[in-house]
Amino acid sequence: MALFLRDAPMKACWYGKTGPARDVLQFGDIETPVAKEGEVRIKIYASGINPADVKLRSGFSTYGYNFPFVIPNSDGAGVIDQVGKGVTEELLESRVWFFNGQRLGRAYGSGAEFIALDKKYITPLPEKVPFDEGATLGIPAMTAYHSIFSDGPVAGKTVLVTGGSGAVGFYCVSLASWGGARVIATVSSVEKGENAILGGVTDIINYKTEDVAHRIEKLTNGAGVDRVISVDFADSLPWLPKVIRKNGCVVAYASASDRSPQIDFFSFMRNNIQIRPFILNALPQKHLDDARFGINKWLNESPNALRPVAANLPLSRMIEAHELVESGSKFGTVVVSP
Ligand SMILES: NC(=O)c1ccc[n+]([C@@H]2O[C@H](COP(=O)([O-])OP(=O)(O)OC[C@H]3O[C@@H](n4cnc5c(N)ncnc54)[C@H](OP(=O)(O)O)[C@@H]3O)[C@@H](O)[C@H]2O)c1
Repeated sequence: MALFLRDAPMKACWYGKTGPARDVLQFGDIETPVAKEGEVRIKIYASGINPADVKLRSGFSTYGYNFPFVIPNSDGAGVIDQVGKGVTEELLESRVWFFNGQRLGRAYGSGAEFIALDKKYITPLPEKVPFDEGATLGIPAMTAYHSIFSDGPVAGKTVLVTGGSGAVGFYCVSLASWGGARVIATVSSVEKGENAILGGVTDIINYKTEDVAHRIEKLTNGAGVDRVISVDFADSLPWLPKVIRKNGCVVAYASASDRSPQIDFFSFMRNNIQIRPFILNALPQKHLDDARFGINKWLNESPNALRPVAANLPLSRMIEAHELVESGSKFGTVVVSP
């Protein structure tokens, strides 16, 4: 069932081979998708670009890439304009945010005017949340939600978030602080520290200029932290066992400085410290659903919380948008709008 019949082509960005954004990204007209069984079609108002989208397009990350024609980007927000067989028509005209556009098993992402997607990847977008902010929720907020809450509630706990001004890091800070934790964050500059404070951080450590373990010891009167959320596991490794309390854990969602770091096993074992790396798109649906609905609870309870949009460019400027993500200078998520 379609809200309106659309035979016309849609505007989209795509690539047929991986490489630098300027060399491979194209923009033009392609066929508009149709919602199949179990799917909805979404008229996209904003497409969010994450580092993983850029790494897939560049060829740095080959994982999941085996398609001759790819519409980039996983995340987005928009309005359902068509439902496939088996999907209730009550969803028509709903505002939604979504993830897993161009991801494992899927070549057609959110860098287009429309997307057809399994309904398990869509979540209602609260009325007060604009589409561009909705497009920042998919990978960044879901990764943050799982990082913070998958080991249980954080009320009364102390959580250290490394990279507290990153897209994921900032949502980690915001969600942990909403959950009642004391949140400490590491950053690399005063400006990034100011960003993290907007999410509710109480203490900032500059990991480039300060001794992280020493600062944590001072800040916690020697008690250490309950959990660490690490954006670069290998880089955190030397000080992790010194700052995590007995029976605490480190959750790691990236390790760019070294993909195969050596671990001093005994230093983790003697304090029962769990090491928990994860990748969002390999999580079981239950955890994804916990994250989707948990994020909506947070959106409803904290309508004024910051959901940073680093830049909002027209869809036709996808090259620039991908380059901005690669620049490393953004705060929040870069978004393109059809
Ligand atoms: N496992 C998953 O499912 C998953 C999900 C989402 C993202 N990721 C990955 O996680 C990484 C970050 O993603 P993002 O979207 O948050 O990127 P982002 O917005 O570019 O933020 C990255 C942040 O990490 C900080 N950082 C880098 N190295 C650091 C270090 N050694 N210690 C502390 N902070 C550090 C950066 O700031 P400074 O460099 O200034 O310190 C920056 O603020 C990417 O590699 C991405 O592919 C993985």
